[in-house]
Amino acid sequence: MSVPLKSTLAQTLIVDNFSFKNHECCVGDISVNTLAQKYGTPLFVYNLNIMETQYQSLRKTFPLKVNIYYSVKANPNRRFLEFFLSKGCGLEIASGGEFAQVLQSGCQAQHILFAGPGKTDIELEFVLSKGIGEIHAESLNEIRRISSIAARLNTQAKVALRVNPNEEAQGGAMRMGGKPSQFGVDEEQMDEAIDLIQSQPSIEFQGIHLFSGTQILDDGILMNQYKKAMKIGKRVFLKTGMPLHTVDFGGGLGIPYFSGEANLNLPRLEEHLSKLFLEIENDPAFFQTRFVVEPGRFLVGPAGTYIVQVLDIKQSRGKTYVLVDGGMNHHLAASGNLGQVIKKNFPIVNFNQISEEGDKEFEVVGPLCTPLDTLGRNVRLPMPKIGDFLGILQSGAYARTASPLGFLSHLTPPEVVVWKGKSELIRRRGTFEDLVHDLR
Ligand SMILES: Cc1ncc(COP(=O)(O)O)c(C=O)c1O
Repeated sequence: MSVPLKSTLAQTLIVDNFSFKNHECCVGDISVNTLAQKYGTPLFVYNLNIMETQYQSLRKTFPLKVNIYYSVKANPNRRFLEFFLSKGCGLEIASGGEFAQVLQSGCQAQHILFAGPGKTDIELEFVLSKGIGEIHAESLNEIRRISSIAARLNTQAKVALRVNPNEEAQGGAMRMGGKPSQFGVDEEQMDEAIDLIQSQPSIEFQGIHLFSGTQILDDGILMNQYKKAMKIGKRVFLKTGMPLHTVDFGGGLGIPYFSGEANLNLPRLEEHLSKLFLEIENDPAFFQTRFVVEPGRFLVGPAGTYIVQVLDIKQSRGKTYVLVDGGMNHHLAASGNLGQVIKKNFPIVNFNQISEEGDKEFEVVGPLCTPLDTLGRNVRLPMPKIGDFLGILQSGAYARTASPLGFLSHLTPPEVVVWKGKSELIRRRGTFEDLVHDLR
């Protein structure tokens, strides 16, 4: 098997992120066939080397004043949390469950920030009682609840305000700001929210958080968001007279999934960011400000591959269906049911015939009894054989963790990392006993 040409996104990713040894396609140095046979399929495999590269390229892009917080929701596996903690990153969480996972991984509470709508009293009490670093408030009522819980616990809550900006400064695939939204407080209501925060003796106001969209591949859109955050930060300073402790730019940096998409232009982003930070260097609003980015997808997405095995191949009224042993129950996003309006295929490869060009089209479908369980539509690859291993690339973020694992009670898929020539099981496959225990 030879190295494929870079004529499709999938082939480009294979050439850039995989290696070839003894004519076999490898994650790190270990062949996909070896991994699939050792751990079984369906299986998530992550190459930590790629996470390292993603982290280093992000670290280089943002000035050192900007702290990187890994957004746990992208993939909460403990090994990932430990990886980012070892780099000195903080962690951004969105639930009490993530808080528990993050504490378990050894993270100190002050390095955690909690953002996201619908925080419950139980969650707020949990995080405040452990001394969480910061809570990013998403509504006026939430500010009141944080305040009364902190008062009851006889503690001070460090709170920043998530602001929904009044301009369309974004264009991510999934927009979360600049329009009516459940996220944050509208910029028009910001003064009221700050007055409320400042009137609460048990809250220490920290600053602002802007996050308007995920999967942004245009550096210009990201820069508009960052500039908007600075503009809002200055307004807050003029109102309060206090330099901001925190300015959180959010996450949202995208990765290519579909044909025609390319990597973010990081050198250009770096250049614009250094200009922006030069402009605010002597601005009293940002004297000793801790800037934050909280990406998830960018850091871990390219590291992951979902490997499935072909179980059956059948024809129906002129169409070919390739049935594989995992589907939307493990990888909802790849089936197009996680926020895609027009269903497009994630990059798919056949690891057993990786260098060949496709000549026929077929559907790649999972084992669930719904037509939604389609991982690839009109896929053009060499026709697989029963037993071949197919890979869905770019599957390190919002894959296993964002999927309906319980639907149809299939066994949950294991996760494996490859690092320094070795593979390590970081989450075991579920068992039939697990499923039976769940029923009690
Ligand atoms: C508040 C917040 N921060 C960070 C993220 C991470 O976004 P991404 O994975 O696009 O970087 C999200 C994603 O939804 C989010 O809601």
